[in-house]
Amino acid sequence: MQCERGATLEDWNTFRIPATAAYRILCTHPDELQLLPEILPTAELPLLVLGNGSNVLFTENYPGIVLRASFRGIRCVEEDPDSICVEAAAGESWHEFVHTCLQRGWHGLENLALIPGTVGAAPVHNIGAYGVEVAQCLESVRVWDSVTHEFRWIPTTELALSYRTSALRTAWLGKVVVTHVRFRLRRAVQPSWDYPELKEYLTALGILKPTPEDIFHAVCALRRRKLPDPTDFPNAGSFFRNPIVPVEHAEELQRRYPTMPCFPHGDSAVKIPAGWLLEHCGWKNIRRGNVGTWKRHALVVINHGATSGREILRFAATLWRSVYNYFGIALEPEVLIVPAVAWQPWED
Ligand code: EPU
Repeated sequence: MQCERGATLEDWNTFRIPATAAYRILCTHPDELQLLPEILPTAELPLLVLGNGSNVLFTENYPGIVLRASFRGIRCVEEDPDSICVEAAAGESWHEFVHTCLQRGWHGLENLALIPGTVGAAPVHNIGAYGVEVAQCLESVRVWDSVTHEFRWIPTTELALSYRTSALRTAWLGKVVVTHVRFRLRRAVQPSWDYPELKEYLTALGILKPTPEDIFHAVCALRRRKLPDPTDFPNAGSFFRNPIVPVEHAEELQRRYPTMPCFPHGDSAVKIPAGWLLEHCGWKNIRRGNVGTWKRHALVVINHGATSGREILRFAATLWRSVYNYFGIALEPEVLIVPAVAWQPWED
């Protein structure tokens, strides 16, 4: 375990904001978590767990413990003729894990290729892409409870998983550290390729019965084409969630904007792409000082050199007000803003 006081978080977040942490801790084995209360007054310090920091925006220095759990290991826990239960440690790279599963013939995660971040962060944000959410393949999550100092397994049913969120991101944020995640994967090949952009891409290649490998490669190609690499253009993926609005509201908007894409969300709601709303407000490939939106995707906010998260936050608040004033839709950040109270976009 490495514990540093007042260390910078610049390399610990993909926005590359040089905020500091009162204590920056790197754990390489879950047992080290038990040492934490012995060396630090954990009960008095706020705790923030990071994977790769690819979904966080620091708007000030963090007054507590920022912990990275870089535990490694992938193993098959149990298998039957139809499925496999796979356990991966929280610090494994998400993309490498997806690739390993594909190579071993364990199916279900291929649509989630190339999502930045770690295995441990996947259930926290219920990561999703191209028509699949990780919730569909999750079985349970092992956590260390920073209040009771005990390890326990939490079944998926208790995680309150929904679109890009879970109890790990809300009620249990700062209270538990994910150490391992178990997934239930299929042996059978049941490709999910209804997502319009994916279907179009595969069809154009003449692939009409895609294998999981085809989907994996297509998703990688689509993501590389559309989304910026945070190493070259610091960013945290989609800055906002796609808003979910009642069907009536979406229908009214579609009468005014017939080209607006809509995705059904349950029986009475519709998900509207925030990227489309932002582009429609003129926000694609726009730069204001050190912050901007990506040239091929308006939902991705790029840090072109800001050294304070507040500068990025101010820019995001401008985007928020624009969509609110034009469409009457209040976007919610997908990026975890730390501290959360900093997000008050209605104030100019
Ligand atoms: N669109 C625009 N203009 C833009 C961006 C998008 O008109 O600037 C339109 C697209 O043409 C498309 C629709 O909006 O018709 C949806 O766009 P896209 O397929 O790029 O997906 P998204 O809804 O913007 C979501 C996830 C992504 C994930 C993609 C692919 C959220 C908040 N984001 O984006 O996840 O990769 O679907 O499935 O749900 C992330 O979470 O960080 C992330 C990148």
